[in-house]
Amino acid sequence: MTRNFDCFDEDLYDPIHRRIREIDSAVAKVECHALYHLARTLDVPGCIVEIGSYLGRSTCAIGYGAADSKRIVYAIDHHKGDELSGVTVGQEQGLHFNLGRFGLLGHVVMIVKDSLAAAVEWPSDKPIAMLFIDGLHTETQCKADFLAFAPYLSPRAWVCFHDYGLYGVKPAVDRFVSDGHIKQPHVVRSLAVTRVVQ
Ligand SMILES: C[S@@+](CC[C@H](N)C(=O)[O-])C[C@H]1O[C@@H](n2cnc3c(N)ncnc32)[C@H](O)[C@@H]1O
Repeated sequence: MTRNFDCFDEDLYDPIHRRIREIDSAVAKVECHALYHLARTLDVPGCIVEIGSYLGRSTCAIGYGAADSKRIVYAIDHHKGDELSGVTVGQEQGLHFNLGRFGLLGHVVMIVKDSLAAAVEWPSDKPIAMLFIDGLHTETQCKADFLAFAPYLSPRAWVCFHDYGLYGVKPAVDRFVSDGHIKQPHVVRSLAVTRVVQ
């Protein structure tokens, strides 16, 4: 199912995207817009967690929305690259630079760690309202990333998966739907947007 985003206020997001579109990324404008809109209009308590920031285009889109909704974004990335997107030198510095130049360092906390290690250390009293998974896109890792953070998701939390339809993301997401963890996703280009089943 494709969600129609015509209802979104283009005027609000367009100036933001003009700033962040120069950040190298495979996350398209309409996907960034959806992430921004969700982060800005969250209707459940908690913070925002991103797995896989790379140089921060999605992080910035989410960060701008989070600044409006007064949420904190935790941006988890080991910054070593991966076998599907390639090893990239200078990722961590690049993300920090981009967050700094767009004034988002007060809204985004960088966690430079493996996603599963970060989940093990996640405080049990810090609920998550929105989880965006864009790390390693194998089915195994995608499932592991979701399951590792699932205990901390608020009831009816939003969960987004990038590259739905590519690599192992679709089978992982479809399995979580059939197992009753999450609702059937709305799909914005290759971004699956779904909610935790209460
Ligand atoms: C597809 S890129 C993320 C793209 C980013 N969301 C954007 O807006 O451009 C995937 C990122 O996940 C990170 N990554 C891969 N496996 C990871 C893991 N197990 N833990 C933490 N980060 C991981 C890589 O370092 C890479 O930067």
